[in-house]
Amino acid sequence: MSKRKLPIGIIGAGRIGAVHAETLAFRLPEAAPLIIADINRQAAEEVATRCGIPRVTENAEEVLADPEIEAVLICSSTDTHAGLIVAAARAGKQIFCEKPIDHSLEKIDRALAAVARAGVQLQVGFNRRFDPNFARVRKAVESGEIGTPHLLHIISRDPEPPPISYVKVSGGIFLDMTIHDFDMARFLIGSEVEEVFTAAGVRVDPSIGEAGDLDTALVVLRFKNGVIGTIDNCRKAVYGYDQRVEILGSEGAVSTGNCYPNQAVVSTSSAVRRDLPLHFFMDRYAESFARELRAFVKAVREGSPTPVTGMDGRVPVVMGLAARKSHDENRVVRLEEIR
Ligand SMILES: NC(=O)c1ccc[n+]([C@@H]2O[C@H](COP(=O)([O-])OP(=O)(O)OC[C@H]3O[C@@H](n4cnc5c(N)ncnc54)[C@H](O)[C@@H]3O)[C@@H](O)[C@H]2O)c1
Repeated sequence: MSKRKLPIGIIGAGRIGAVHAETLAFRLPEAAPLIIADINRQAAEEVATRCGIPRVTENAEEVLADPEIEAVLICSSTDTHAGLIVAAARAGKQIFCEKPIDHSLEKIDRALAAVARAGVQLQVGFNRRFDPNFARVRKAVESGEIGTPHLLHIISRDPEPPPISYVKVSGGIFLDMTIHDFDMARFLIGSEVEEVFTAAGVRVDPSIGEAGDLDTALVVLRFKNGVIGTIDNCRKAVYGYDQRVEILGSEGAVSTGNCYPNQAVVSTSSAVRRDLPLHFFMDRYAESFARELRAFVKAVREGSPTPVTGMDGRVPVVMGLAARKSHDENRVVRLEEIR
């Protein structure tokens, strides 16, 4: 492998753009973040100053036109992803794009076609695959340690709902929140889902319902290999970010619980207590964000396939559209119905 640092441009300096910029600057000596773009120049300047990124622009095109830049991280709002993937592929850049690629399968397919035509690499930001706990659960399935998997349970609850302004443009709970769990389900079981059934409602905040969305959902999954799964989502769990998984197999089970800021347990005459779990995704999945970028940089430098492909980005969107259709029509929906 070449010793040269991979020159990278970042598009989007919001919450996730800042996390990735910090990883590149402070944790990945094999990468060099050289330019950061945001339509909000101040946001880009703040991240650039903190991370020592030499150049700032308001224009993503400037990043794509820079011949020195070999790879780009697309961290801007979801509605910009598909267009930027097409433009980056045309410019011959290797691409990391945050999830989801888009809410429209037509736009996703156009973006994936541009990537294929240009022969560039694309990794989609399903970071949870790189979480050490979930990676160990996958290993227990893949290695046969728990035998043939039968049942999967994913519990994925947020500590609090996002603002209504965000709910309105999020694409809805299935494309915004459950999408990570759909990816996790495919990843952990190593098989595709054939059909889904959704039972969902508005239990947390009526204004989420007024915005056309749901805040509480159970999605039942039937996999091609026979595994039956559930995803349990709620936009509000008062005790914090609740992220657990269990798989039952013919030779045993594997599970992973929540992560805590400390391991202390306080025992008194009235109760045994511990502190609440890490509050939200920035803390809970910090390590996975760094690991996914390390994997991307490695794939680009070695010219090897990225670990989360464009198709891995597309399938969870199909699952999200199927889950919503199942709720709307109150019936089992086969994924092949979603075109
Ligand atoms: N993998 C994860 O767990 C995870 C977590 C958070 C966000 N995300 C995804 O990352 C994306 C960004 O989310 P966020 O929470 O950082 O949002 P954010 O609103 O904090 O940041 C988005 C930034 O993009 C900028 N922007 C918008 N259009 C642009 C353009 N054309 N060119 C350059 N910059 C532009 C905005 O000014 C803003 O600063 C979303 O697609 C979201 O789904 C993924």
